Amino acid sequence: MKKFGIEKKYLILQRFLKLVSSIHMITLSIIKKLIIQKALVAVMLFFCFSQSFADVENGKKLFSGRCASCHAVDKKVVGPALAGIETRRDEAWLIKWIRNSSEVIKSGDAYAVKIFNEYNKSVMTAFPDLSDDDIKDILGYIKEEAANSGKDNQASAGGGGSSGVSQPPVDTDTLKFLLFVTTGLLLFAALALLFAAAILINVLRSREGKEPYSWSGTMKTMGDLMKNPYIAGSITFVILAVGSTKLVTHARSVGLHQGYQPIQPIAFSHKLHAGEYGIACNYCHVGVEKSKSATIPSANICMNCHNYIEKGPQYGTKEIEKIKKHYEQGKPVEWVRIHNLPDFVYFNHQQHVVAGGQQCQTCHGPIEEMEEVYQYSDLSMGWCINCHRQTEVDVNKNDYYTTVHNEWVEKKENAKKEGKEIKITVADLGGLECAKCHY
Ligand code: HEC
Ligand code: HEC
Ligand code: HEC
Ligand code: HEC
Ligand code: HEC
Ligand code: HEC
Repeated sequence: MKKFGIEKKYLILQRFLKLVSSIHMITLSIIKKLIIQKALVAVMLFFCFSQSFADVENGKKLFSGRCASCHAVDKKVVGPALAGIETRRDEAWLIKWIRNSSEVIKSGDAYAVKIFNEYNKSVMTAFPDLSDDDIKDILGYIKEEAANSGKDNQASAGGGGSSGVSQPPVDTDTLKFLLFVTTGLLLFAALALLFAAAILINVLRSREGKEPYSWSGTMKTMGDLMKNPYIAGSITFVILAVGSTKLVTHARSVGLHQGYQPIQPIAFSHKLHAGEYGIACNYCHVGVEKSKSATIPSANICMNCHNYIEKGPQYGTKEIEKIKKHYEQGKPVEWVRIHNLPDFVYFNHQQHVVAGGQQCQTCHGPIEEMEEVYQYSDLSMGWCINCHRQTEVDVNKNDYYTTVHNEWVEKKENAKKEGKEIKITVADLGGLECAKCHY
């Protein structure tokens, strides 16, 4: 074997660094483009949020938790429909009212007294613990909900693909356009200032008898610096490292919809049915113990009870009548699907609930507390695999794969004889094999 001399080594190193440096140059030019775009987006976002847009998601949570027992957006419940409230009263009044409506009434505020009498002097709960921001969030949610309610009544089952949890509160296209224009103007102004400063500096330098800075000179020093292979190499490394981690995290989140909570065509509440009334999950999700799919109940299952129960505590007859209409016309309710694995993944409920002994809540979260269902787990491959690695299978009770299990029972017994305790996880039974989950 021939040994490389020190010079040869140096040459190879130099070639290598040159290669790195040219990759770096290309990356740099791409990054430059990206940075310019990113900067624009960042500035736009900054403007977007500095206009104090309400956190609609928080507002929605607060509204369903605190207000929905008495208010709806587009209909009268115990209290008035709240759509358009921001035009009826100003924000300061609303904050005072929502914190403690009795105080506003006591102060003799004419509007407050009038509405209090209109609603037969029913007292609205006081919410002294809500911050100004919380209340603004609630109002933001009401506003958005009012704008959407017309559209959402026609929401159909096809919407499973969109990941939008909430729609932006205003017409975003115009907003984006305006932001784009302002950003452009600001950038232009900044550039103009920079040029002015440069000219002034050069004037000063020539007065002092020094050579003024020039474009070509600056570019040349920059270029020299970049040609230094060590500098070029390390910068490339940093850029590639940061870039690839960013790319990977971004790519991994594509197609995952954790938290997805679409608006459903009928205000069906799991909190009421599964929580307060304790109706068993499989009364409605009849497939969950005997098939791959849990299934969503058809209207005739609802009618088992709603033939007799015609009025609900929150919406009166309005929502329940919708079920009747679907039932009588034989038209299925178009529930918007929330959980949706890609077609190339095989998941089976029976296997998990019956053979695996898993609770619904492990995967779906506290469904019995949800007014509206949302996607609790991210349903990523990592999520499935992690659980398969960690979950121990009770081989004695489980006869799903008799032969495999028998083998493991034997292994376990043998280990016991040697005084060892072995844990048998789903992974040990083949739960990490690609073909088990992928067609
Ligand atoms: C216990 C029932 C109840 C709860 C809970 C409740 N409200 Fe009310 N609300 C009322 C009633 C009743 C009125 C009508 C005025 C009155 O009788 O005091 C009202 C009036 C209002 C008004 C004035 C409406 C108008 O048209 O001028 C606003 C705004 C309002 N509520 C917001 C809220 C918000 C926001 C929440 C949740 C944080 C909430 N309310 C929770 C019962 C309730
Ligand atoms: C009275 C009938 C009923 C009962 C009881 C019930 N559900 Fe549901 N469930 C529904 C209906 C209707 C839907 C579709 C509308 C929705 O998403 O709210 C649904 C939707 C769901 C979804 C989301 C489905 C999707 O689109 O991805 C999950 C998860 C779920 N239920 C779990 C449970 C669990 C867990 C329990 C028991 C704690 C339970 N359900 C009890 C009727 C019921
Ligand atoms: C096992 C009986 C049972 C079944 C099945 C059932 N419900 Fe209910 N539902 C109830 C009860 C009980 C109430 C509450 C009545 C009350 O408190 O006054 C209710 C109330 C409601 C309300 C009114 C909520 C409100 O706050 O106004 C809606 C809407 C509703 N159910 C939808 C459905 C739908 C959709 C299905 C089928 C997927 C369904 N229910 C199946 C028993 C049932
Ligand atoms: C091991 C995790 C896990 C457990 C346990 C589990 N689910 Fe699911 N569930 C899922 C996944 C994943 C999906 C999405 C399936 C798909 O898109 O094919 C889903 C979808 C659903 C759906 C809607 C789509 C369908 O299959 O019809 C309902 C309803 C549902 N689950 C109800 C339940 C109920 C009720 C239980 C408890 C008896 C339960 N699930 C237990 C993971 C689980
Ligand atoms: C909460 C834990 C948990 C999660 C999350 C989970 N699983 Fe499982 N899985 C189990 C258990 C437990 C079994 C073992 C059932 C048995 O004993 O046969 C199992 C078994 C399986 C099997 C059969 C394995 C075999 O050896 O044949 C498949 C396929 C599977 N799971 C797919 C999935 C997919 C796809 C997901 C994600 C969408 C998922 N699982 C998420 C707990 C989980
Ligand atoms: C326990 C179930 C399970 C096993 C075992 C499993 N996968 Fe997956 N895989 C999934 C799920 C669920 C998804 C969908 C995740 C999503 O929606 O992005 C997925 C997605 C993928 C994707 C699409 C890219 C992505 O990340 O979204 C590829 C490629 C893939 N799996 C390859 C494999 C290979 C190769 C193996 C074997 C080493 C394997 N999977 C084993 C459940 C599994």
